[in-house]
Amino acid sequence: MSIVLLSGSPSSPSRSARLLELVGRRLNERGHDTELLTLRDLPAQALLRADTHDRVIAEAVEKVVRSKALVIATPVYKAAYSGLVKTFLDLLAQDGLLGKVVLPLATAGSPAHVLALDYALRPVLQSLGPAQILGGVYATDRQVRWDDSTGLSVDEDIEWRISLAVDQLDESLHLRAQSHRLRRAGSEAGEGLVAQRC
Ligand SMILES: Cc1cc2nc3c(=O)[nH]c(=O)nc-3n(C[C@H](O)[C@H](O)[C@H](O)COP(=O)(O)O)c2cc1C
Repeated sequence: MSIVLLSGSPSSPSRSARLLELVGRRLNERGHDTELLTLRDLPAQALLRADTHDRVIAEAVEKVVRSKALVIATPVYKAAYSGLVKTFLDLLAQDGLLGKVVLPLATAGSPAHVLALDYALRPVLQSLGPAQILGGVYATDRQVRWDDSTGLSVDEDIEWRISLAVDQLDESLHLRAQSHRLRRAGSEAGEGLVAQRC
């Protein structure tokens, strides 16, 4: 199972997408497989009409269903997250994030809406039943810079927050895998005892 990197900006180039790619590279360095899902590339009409029979939309939803974790990157729009992210999340089943770990990322023009992740995005994610929603990273445009020759550079503070978030996601996935293995070993041992008694 891989980690889906969900890019929720309608723009290209996109700061939040670049931050997401950075997080993706850090996760790859830790041995995690990642799959990029760029929402702006989905067929717009099918997305707006919630046409889950559309092949591309169905594949995108299936990607999320199959994943063990999601990193969701969004720009802050009107003190909340992008409509593109909401349109896609609306396509998921009621418990569409069941058992998954979610890391939210946001970029914004100013620090004024730093609570957007907590008061806007988090309740929506929570309603989809994830195992855990991690703290998240919020960066302003001044903290995330791009240069065509040198690429992405982020402030030290953001670099530190990303390291922390990647550590937390990595640790959470390891703990979940470990407890899954223990539960499976326990139930196999139980089945063995029952077979011996029969
Ligand atoms: C329609 C629109 C609404 C925005 N609303 C806000 C806002 O309410 N607060 C804020 O801090 N920045 C706001 N911004 C700025 C973006 O959040 C910011 O530039 C962000 O980094 C863009 O990310 P992107 O390049 O991934 O699209 C807005 C930008 C647009 C285009």
